[in-house]
Amino acid sequence: MIGPLAVRADADQPTPALLAEIEAGRARLDQVLPWLDAEQPDLQRLLLEAAWSRPDWGPAAVKQLRNWLTHPTFSADRDRQLTGLLQTFADQDEVQAVLAKAIADPATGQAQRLQLLQGLARTRLDPLPDAWLNVLRTVLTDEDRMVCQEAVFTVKMKDVDGCDSILRAIGKNGKYPLEIRIAGLECLASRQRACEPDLFGLLREQMTAGKQAPVKVAAARTLGASRLSDAQLAALVEDFSQLPAATISLLLPAFSKSKDAKVGMALVAALERLPGAGVSVGEADRALACFPNEVHVRFRPLREATLSRNRQDWGQLERVARELLPGDVRRGKLVFQSDKAGCTACHRAAGQGGAVGPNLSKIGVIRSHRELLESVLFPDGYVAPEFRTYLAATDRGQIHTGLLLQETTDAIYLRTAPRVRTPVARRQVEDFAPVAASLMPRGFDKVLSRQELSDLIEFLASQR
Ligand code: HEC
Repeated sequence: MIGPLAVRADADQPTPALLAEIEAGRARLDQVLPWLDAEQPDLQRLLLEAAWSRPDWGPAAVKQLRNWLTHPTFSADRDRQLTGLLQTFADQDEVQAVLAKAIADPATGQAQRLQLLQGLARTRLDPLPDAWLNVLRTVLTDEDRMVCQEAVFTVKMKDVDGCDSILRAIGKNGKYPLEIRIAGLECLASRQRACEPDLFGLLREQMTAGKQAPVKVAAARTLGASRLSDAQLAALVEDFSQLPAATISLLLPAFSKSKDAKVGMALVAALERLPGAGVSVGEADRALACFPNEVHVRFRPLREATLSRNRQDWGQLERVARELLPGDVRRGKLVFQSDKAGCTACHRAAGQGGAVGPNLSKIGVIRSHRELLESVLFPDGYVAPEFRTYLAATDRGQIHTGLLLQETTDAIYLRTAPRVRTPVARRQVEDFAPVAASLMPRGFDKVLSRQELSDLIEFLASQR
C-alpha cells in the first residue's frame, strides 16, 4: 500500500518529498497517518490544513477506522495512528458516529474499547458532540469494570458535566477500585457546593494513609479543588504534619475561599511548623487572601523569614528590576519567539507556541510588569495546580518528571519535555508525587541581555 514516499516510523519528520506532496495537495491519507499524532505544532497545523482542503480524506479516514475496528491489533504505532486519525477527523459526523457505536458495543472487545476511549480523551473537540457525551454517560455504568474505569478517566480529562450523580455513586461504591472512586470524585470536586462527610473522610484517609501513590495525590488534588466547610478545613490542617510540602500546596486552594479567623490562624500555625522551605510565599498568599487581617498579621513573621531565606533571589530580582531599560513590544515578540529564549516551546502568545506552560495570550491583563519579571526570573514562586510538576519513580529505577497529561486505566502520561509524552505504566509506579519546582527553567537573567529582557517583559505586558 505504502508508496515510494514511505516514511520510517522512527524518523521524527516526514521526508522532504512527502512534505512537498502534502503541501501540493497530492499526499494520500495512508502516507500521512504516521504523522497525524505528531507532537509538533507546525507539522500538526500543516496536516490539519491539508485535511480541511482534501474532501477525499474524510471518507478515507472513516474507511480506515472501520478497517481497524474489524482487524484490531495493539501496538504503540497503531495507538498513535488511531489517536492521530481521531484528532484530525473528530469533527466529522461519520467518524463521531462510528466511534460512539464501537465504544458502546460490548462486541467491540475490551482492549479495543479502552483504546478508543483513550483516543477520544485526547481529541481536541470542545464541547464534545452529543453522540460522545451520550456514550460516555452510558459506559460509566458498563458491566465491564475496566471500560467503566476508563470512562471515568475520559470524563475527567474532557471535564464532561451532566453525569455528576453517576460519578458520585461510583465514588461512594466500595466495590470499585480506589483509583476510580477518587478519579470520579475529582471530576465533581469543583462543581459541588459541599463535600459530603463520608466522601471527605474517604479522601482524607487516602491522602494520609492510602497505599497507592497516584491515588494519594489525586485525593489531595480533589480536596484542594473542593468546597470545604470551615470545620472540614480545620480538620484538614491537622493532616499537614503528615504530608510533604508539595502535597500541602495541592490542598491550599481549598482555603482560599474561607473567611474564618480560627481556620486561618490554624493554617498559619501549621505552615509555621513545616520543616525546611515549606510552601512558597506566593502559594500561601493566595490561600490566605480572604482571611481577616489578624491572620495576615500572624503570618507576617513567617512570610518575612521565608522571603529572607530567598534573599539572594529577591536581591537579584531588585537588581534586575533596577537595571531594566525602556522595552519595545515588537522586539520583545522576536525575543519570545527566538531559539535563545525558547519560550514558544512551552507557551503560546501572539498566535504561536506550545502548551507545556500557561497560555500567555492574555497575561498582561492579570500580571503587572513586576510580577511578570518575577515569573520569568523565578518561576518556582507560585505554580498553578494545573501546571504542577510531578515526579514518577518506577520499580525499574527510572525517574520521570513532568506535567500530568492524562491518566488511563493502565498508565500515567507525563509531559516530560516540550513535545514529549511519556507513559509510565501504572503497575510499575513505585512513587508518584508533586514537586515544588516549576518545569520552567531558571536563569533567563543570564541568558538574555538586559535590553532583551526589558523588551520581553514589555511584550508580555502587552498581551491582553
Ligand atoms: C520548559 C517549558 C517552559 C519554558 C521553556 C518557559 N516556560 Fe514559562 N512556564 C512554564 C510552566 C510549566 C509554567 C507554570 C508553572 C509556573 O508558574 O512556574 C510557566 C509559567 C510562566 C509564567 C507565569 C504565568 C502566570 O500565569 O503567572 C510566565 C510569565 C512565563 N512562564 C513566561 C515565560 C517566558 C517569557 C519564557 C521564555 C523566556 C518561558 N516562560 C519559558 C514552562 C516553561
